Amino acid sequence: MAIKRRQLLILGGLALGGGLGGAVLSKILIRQPEPIASTTNSSTAVVNNLEPAKSNINVKRSPNPAPKGLFAPTRGDMRIVVISDLNSAYGSTDYIPQVKQAIAFLPDWEPDLVMCGGDMVAGQSNELSDAEIAAMWQGFEKHIGAPIRKAKLPFGFTIGNHDGSGSIYNGKLSFERDRNAVRKYWNDPKHDPNLKFVDRADFPFHYTFQQNDIFCLVWDASTATIPSEQIKWVEKSLSSEIAQKAKLRIAIGHLPLYAVVKGRETTGNYLDDAERLRAILEKYGVHTYISGHQHGYYPAYKGKLELLYAGVLGDDLRHLLSGNLTPIRTITVVDIKLETSETTYTTYDMDSLKVVDQKTLPPFIDAPNGRITRRDLKV
Ligand SMILES: [Fe+2]
Ligand SMILES: [Fe+2]
Repeated sequence: MAIKRRQLLILGGLALGGGLGGAVLSKILIRQPEPIASTTNSSTAVVNNLEPAKSNINVKRSPNPAPKGLFAPTRGDMRIVVISDLNSAYGSTDYIPQVKQAIAFLPDWEPDLVMCGGDMVAGQSNELSDAEIAAMWQGFEKHIGAPIRKAKLPFGFTIGNHDGSGSIYNGKLSFERDRNAVRKYWNDPKHDPNLKFVDRADFPFHYTFQQNDIFCLVWDASTATIPSEQIKWVEKSLSSEIAQKAKLRIAIGHLPLYAVVKGRETTGNYLDDAERLRAILEKYGVHTYISGHQHGYYPAYKGKLELLYAGVLGDDLRHLLSGNLTPIRTITVVDIKLETSETTYTTYDMDSLKVVDQKTLPPFIDAPNGRITRRDLKV
C-alpha cells in the first residue's frame, strides 16, 4: 500500500518524516568532555553489565577498511557507522536502492557499532492495519535487521516517530499499535541487536549500552517531549560509575535539540526545552548527541556538546535552513581516538558515493531556538 507520506502529525510533541542527505568531508575535532566525579553507581532496574566493555583487541582489523571504490578513511580505536531515516511511503515494506546499498556496504567499513537515528519503518498512520504494521517490520527484518545481524554488527538505534511515536493525546498513546509492534519486534530474541546492555528495562524506547569503551544512552525522542521521569533516568544513568568511567559518552535520540532544515523548523520537529536538555548532557560529559528526523546532514556543536545530524538514507530530502545546497542522502563513518576524544567524520553522498566536503556546508545555522555552528569552526 502506498499512502503518500508527506506530512505527519505531531501531537503533544509531534513529529513528521522526511529528509535530506549529504556526505561528509573528513574533519577532525578534538574535545575533552569532563566527566563529573563518579561516586554513584546508580544504574537502574536491569543492569546486565557493570564492567566496562573492553575493546575488541583480538579482532583483526584493517587499517582503513571501506567498500571497494569508496574513499577509505583511517580507522580510529573505535569506528561507528551512523545511518538514519530509512523509510519511504507510509506502510512501505521495501526500501529504496540507496538504503539497500548502504546496508550492503556496512560490513566493508568494519565498524564496531552501527547506530541508527530512527524512522526505520513508515508507520504513524492510523489508516494502517495491524497486518500492515506487522508487514513493515517483516520488511525491515528482511532488508535491514537480518543483514546487519548476519554481518555480526552491533546495532544501536533510537525509535523514530514513524517507528513508534510516543505521542499522547487526552492521556492516551496516539499510536499504541505502532509502539506495541516496535516493542514486539525488538524484544524477540531472534532479533537480538548484539549490544552489551547496561540497562534495558524499557528497551527499545530508552536504554543504555556499552560498546568498546564508549557508553551510549538512548532516549525516547520520538516526540518533542521527554517525560520528566525519563529525564531523571537520564541523569541517573549518565552519573553512574560505568558511564563516567567510559572513555566517551554518546547520546542518541530521533528529534534533534535544534532544527536545521526547511519544513522541520517548527515546534514539534525538535525537542522542547533544548537548552535544559543540552545542559544535562554537558553536565555529565556527553561528547556527542546524534539525531535523525530532520533529513539534513550537518556536523555541528553548541556549547560543549557536539551535534551530529545524521541526515537521511530514504525519501524526503530536505534543504538546510541556510545556504542553497542541493539536498543529498548520507551515511557517516565516525572514527574515534579514545585517548584524546578526537572524532573524525567521513560522510558519503549515497547517490554519488563521493565524500562530502564539510567546508561546503553553511558555517552556522540559526534555528528558531538558537544558533549552532559547524563543528570544524569550534574556537
Ligand atoms: Fe524521517
Ligand atoms: Fe521522523
